Amino acid sequence: MVTVVGIGPGHPDLITPAAQKIIGTADVLIGGKRLLDSIDTTGKEIFYITGHIDSALKELERNSDKSTVVVVSGDPGFYSILRTIRNRLPHLPVNAVPGISSVQVLFALIAQEWQDVAFTSVHGRSLDELDKVTGHNKKICLLTDDKLTAPAIARHLRERGVGGRAVVGKNLSYPDQELIDTTVEALAEMDGLESCVLYIEAAIGD
Ligand SMILES: C[S@@+](CC[C@H](N)C(=O)[O-])C[C@H]1O[C@@H](n2cnc3c(N)ncnc32)[C@H](O)[C@@H]1O
Repeated sequence: MVTVVGIGPGHPDLITPAAQKIIGTADVLIGGKRLLDSIDTTGKEIFYITGHIDSALKELERNSDKSTVVVVSGDPGFYSILRTIRNRLPHLPVNAVPGISSVQVLFALIAQEWQDVAFTSVHGRSLDELDKVTGHNKKICLLTDDKLTAPAIARHLRERGVGGRAVVGKNLSYPDQELIDTTVEALAEMDGLESCVLYIEAAIGD
């Protein structure tokens, strides 16, 4: 059986007991190196997911008769390898165990509800994903990466005349967590801030 398990945003306190339990009973663990290094893998067969997704999928199929756990960050239902597994290996029965998403951590830090927010991601994707939700949504939250950083997104929004509040969460739940609550204008002038959660509360329509 293959189970995709979300282990939360990074801090061990934010891994659920259910996730810990299933990882503890797994024969095979598959995941990114940073994630597998953050959990106890003693006695398990380990396979690191690198840029070559095909070899990870092959390994997954090869081990599907064992108790195989694919470890993902945050929640498996939010921009994880789950969709690729379902699409590329449709014959494989797959379970998922939820985790605390990085976006939940950001909204908890600013003590704000998120049911009226439009979510997207430019992580490994293009700015088209952002453009699809900009304009008709006042509240947007997106995952960024090391190329489309939070300041790069702010510059893109500024060019399109979108201003307002911008909240950036980097390394959420880690000891070096950064939370920046600023404006689109000010964020556009900043550097760094790769692979973050970015929340925009657009001033348009106010
Ligand atoms: C492949 S997506 C995984 C999202 C994950 N499934 C979730 O629910 O948080 C990776 C992106 O999630 C965001 N992310 C994951 N963990 C994070 C953390 N601890 N702090 C800030 N952003 C994080 C970053 O935008 C990163 O580029």
